[in-house]
Amino acid sequence: MNLDLKGKTALVCGSTQGIGKASAIELAQLGASVILLARNENKLKEVQSELAIENSQVHEYYVADFSNTTNVKEVIQTIVSKHDIHILVNNTGGPAGGPIIAAEGEAFINAFNQHLINNQQLVQAVIPAMKAAKYGRVINIISTSVKAPLNGLGVSNTIRGAVASWSKTMANELGQFGITVNNVLPGATMTARLDSIAENKANKTGSTKEEVLKQMASAAPAQRVGQAEEIANAVAFLASPAAGYINGVNLPVDGGRTPCL
Ligand SMILES: NC(=O)c1ccc[n+]([C@@H]2O[C@H](COP(=O)([O-])OP(=O)(O)OC[C@H]3O[C@@H](n4cnc5c(N)ncnc54)[C@H](OP(=O)(O)O)[C@@H]3O)[C@@H](O)[C@H]2O)c1
Repeated sequence: MNLDLKGKTALVCGSTQGIGKASAIELAQLGASVILLARNENKLKEVQSELAIENSQVHEYYVADFSNTTNVKEVIQTIVSKHDIHILVNNTGGPAGGPIIAAEGEAFINAFNQHLINNQQLVQAVIPAMKAAKYGRVINIISTSVKAPLNGLGVSNTIRGAVASWSKTMANELGQFGITVNNVLPGATMTARLDSIAENKANKTGSTKEEVLKQMASAAPAQRVGQAEEIANAVAFLASPAAGYINGVNLPVDGGRTPCL
């Protein structure tokens, strides 16, 4: 199986912690040069220094705020003027939780911009080089809520569905150029995001964070929450030459929690 990413450049968004960081580490281990993108410059530098360099890769980082689509557009133009991107990992912070009935219109618009509009701008910018290389991998980190909505994540559930349909449409258009577009759907994964979701739930229900995490773990046949590295393994596989005939799929990495096919 060819998992070799030597000579490839990956742009990994939301890569200062959690799933994005783990994906950047894994892609570098397979030989890719990695460009990190997020808001916190100190953390970006830290992650950059942790990436493998055994294959003479050069890793870089850029600062961008995904709540500002104009900023993201400017930064991606700078990146593609200097680098040909072969692998794009679309990932950013998840929308705030809460019941859908309580959500204001603005929350939907902000989440739509942060997730869908930025993804669109990023893909549009990297596609010319992917077409020229006849090799492209777009991997969107979404959520299992694409398949079955999660309680208490109303805005997120709604926007994730839009991103999944956007992605499938993109896969149909781009497959002929050697480009694949796939979605990785993490289940409950032990990151700062999950920690804060568990803490909020604990505060609301009067239980402890540990009890909430235990409950989350028991919701999956695996009887545990996932680790960011386990999501990153799926990202790295989809980025590899070995996954060239996998296009337009939703891949849950959730210990079996998703109740539907
Ligand atoms: N963990 C889970 O259980 C789980 C389950 C299903 C889906 N997901 C989804 O998977 C994605 C990643 O989750 P995670 O758990 O790894 O999240 P996380 O630990 O909160 O990390 C989010 C990453 O995105 C970056 N980010 C956040 N807001 C940003 C902004 N406005 N502009 C640019 N970068 C931004 C953060 O970096 P900076 O702060 O440096 O900008 C960080 O590197 C999220 O969309 C999440 O909702 C997670």
